[in-house]
Amino acid sequence: MQVIENISGVRESISAFKSEGESVGFVPTMGALHKGHISLMRRAKEENDRVVCSIFVNPTQFNNPNDLKNYPRTIEEDSLMLEKEGCDLIFFPSEKEIYPVKDTVIYDLGMLDKTMEGLHRPGHFNGVAMVVKKLFEIIQPHKAYFGEKDYQQLLIISHITKFYNLGIDIVACPTLREPDGLAMSSRNQLLSPSERDIAHVIYDILTGLKEKAGKVSVCSLMDCAEAELKKYPEFKKEYIEIADATTLEAVNNWNNKNIRVFAAIYLGKVRLIDNIKLF
Ligand code: PAJ
Repeated sequence: MQVIENISGVRESISAFKSEGESVGFVPTMGALHKGHISLMRRAKEENDRVVCSIFVNPTQFNNPNDLKNYPRTIEEDSLMLEKEGCDLIFFPSEKEIYPVKDTVIYDLGMLDKTMEGLHRPGHFNGVAMVVKKLFEIIQPHKAYFGEKDYQQLLIISHITKFYNLGIDIVACPTLREPDGLAMSSRNQLLSPSERDIAHVIYDILTGLKEKAGKVSVCSLMDCAEAELKKYPEFKKEYIEIADATTLEAVNNWNNKNIRVFAAIYLGKVRLIDNIKLF
């Protein structure tokens, strides 16, 4: 497995793969890898001759400087995991390599960043679009793999890829969960043991909503979610939204059959997000 920090080195290796007629799958990450990331890696491995994984904690997508500072960085463990999974190349650039000059581009993401994460983390998706477009232009993979865990991000990256005719297949991968249902996330390691014990409640609430969806009104379903959450003073809701799975517009009835429920909830200082398909 090669670990390359500069763009020219990565381009050379990838050209060598492609000149052999090999397909290239790409898994962009910010490191602190867990089984969720590895599931993307495995899918990429199944579907491509070569797999490239990037590890870059992208400063432009953090709207909170403390969040950036506290983001876990575990490059040694990450490299070992990736090597074991048969990753061919890790791209591990410095900030200077990705942003040699300050990038001030503003992406037009339409309605996709005007709600949920986009609303609560101003500038976040602009930073994601910025870095993913740069990474796509550097790696030029055939396919790129993203988790449904970050569903809004997945839609925004699909949009950017189409908008700029990047010619990359975006592959959506299901959310991997802990045995108790908590969505795997690098942030879970920031939870205290007592917070970790109750973190599964978020998924329990979402699956509870799925059982009732279509049987009661959207409005009373939201009331149910509120009532459940109020039982746990440790949680602070940022949003729970029921929305169209393609446009992310909020829905107020069940006529549409392409609906997901999304949540962002603080547990202590840790912000957790999750979403599941309702219909
Ligand atoms: P990061 O949070 O490291 O996630 C990398 C990829 O792993 C994303 O596509 C994310 O959706 C996926 N992922 C995370 N947890 C998952 C889980 N439990 N199950 C399945 N997939 C999961 O998302 C980012 O990094 C960054 O925004 C990035 C796209 C790399 C741009 O900087």
